[in-house]
Amino acid sequence: MTTVSPQGLLEQALERVQHATNEASLDEVRVAYLGKKGLLTGLLKQLGQLPPETRREAGQAVNRCKQSLESAIESRRETLHRQAIEARLESERVDITMPGRTLPAGGPHPVHRALDRILAIFGQLGFNVATGPEVEDDRYNFGALNFPEHHPARAMHDTFYLPDGRVLRTHTSPVQIRVMEAAEPPVRIVAPGRVFRSDSDQTHTPQFHQVEGLLVDRDVSFADLKGLLSAFVNAFFEESLEVRLRPSYFPFTEPSAEVDVRWRNEDGTTGRWLEVLGCGMVHPNVLANCDIDPEEYTGYAFGLGVERFAMLRYRVNDLRLFFENDLNFLGQFR
Ligand code: FA5
Ligand code: MG
Repeated sequence: MTTVSPQGLLEQALERVQHATNEASLDEVRVAYLGKKGLLTGLLKQLGQLPPETRREAGQAVNRCKQSLESAIESRRETLHRQAIEARLESERVDITMPGRTLPAGGPHPVHRALDRILAIFGQLGFNVATGPEVEDDRYNFGALNFPEHHPARAMHDTFYLPDGRVLRTHTSPVQIRVMEAAEPPVRIVAPGRVFRSDSDQTHTPQFHQVEGLLVDRDVSFADLKGLLSAFVNAFFEESLEVRLRPSYFPFTEPSAEVDVRWRNEDGTTGRWLEVLGCGMVHPNVLANCDIDPEEYTGYAFGLGVERFAMLRYRVNDLRLFFENDLNFLGQFR
């Protein structure tokens, strides 16, 4: 008879069961003790060699050990199974309170926001939108607008010339000519668009936007123009800023004026004046150039700088920032 007791084998086996960390190693323990060639199974096979008086009791002892081991393996298997499920639930847990992933969103450019605002206000005041080309003939950009040939007034605009003699339009005023050539009074339009000048500093860029305005009808007066512009400025800024009308000169208007708005500094104190638009009564020569009788009709016109309005409304102190495409800057306007 071997010296190994079933109780000793059971203790060894239980030790291994507790240390099994997965079902495969648990199975190894089962085979090693309970399998066909397992150690406890081996003890049963040796029972025949025992004297008959002890055989029965020894057999019962081995069977009790087998049963204890079987149920220990079973309960360990359940524990491992449950732990595996818990680990999986833990690792796959969805935190429904976490913020969703968002795509980076763009937004309208501040210059476009200002432009939309300008057009919406003039739309409410009854002005229709007209447009014209960015590359213009000398006649539309200058000649028909009463700029005399070789007159120094042309030098007011630092013009970009194309090799064929055409120009990148220096203002939106050529749209006045295009509209008056094509339509009979009454005319009431605004013309937004890009314009170009060889200019660059804190309040000038080589490419910028203007909105031209033109109203031609019977009995139009300078007082009408002044009333319209002051209604517009109030609607645009939604706060009362200091505004002044300053006499000026344009070949295509007479009399002419420019409008300045006073900067308001961060601390609320007033800063310097910023010119935002030019305007005046349409010059009789311009009406005549478009076959409109200046004896019968009068009109006013204005050309405003969109970036200048955006600077004042959004408190941007350098106009060039609008065209640098710095996302940190642009993101503030979303
Ligand atoms: C003109 O361009 C005239 N055509 C305006 C006009 C139209 C007068 C109709 C009378 C009747 P001026 O060059 O001043 O005028 O430009 C008009 C506005 O454009 C300026 O008041 C300013 O707000 C803006 N502006 C001019 N140059 C620049 C520039 N380089 N960058 C940004 N804005 C500019
Ligand atoms: Mg000016």
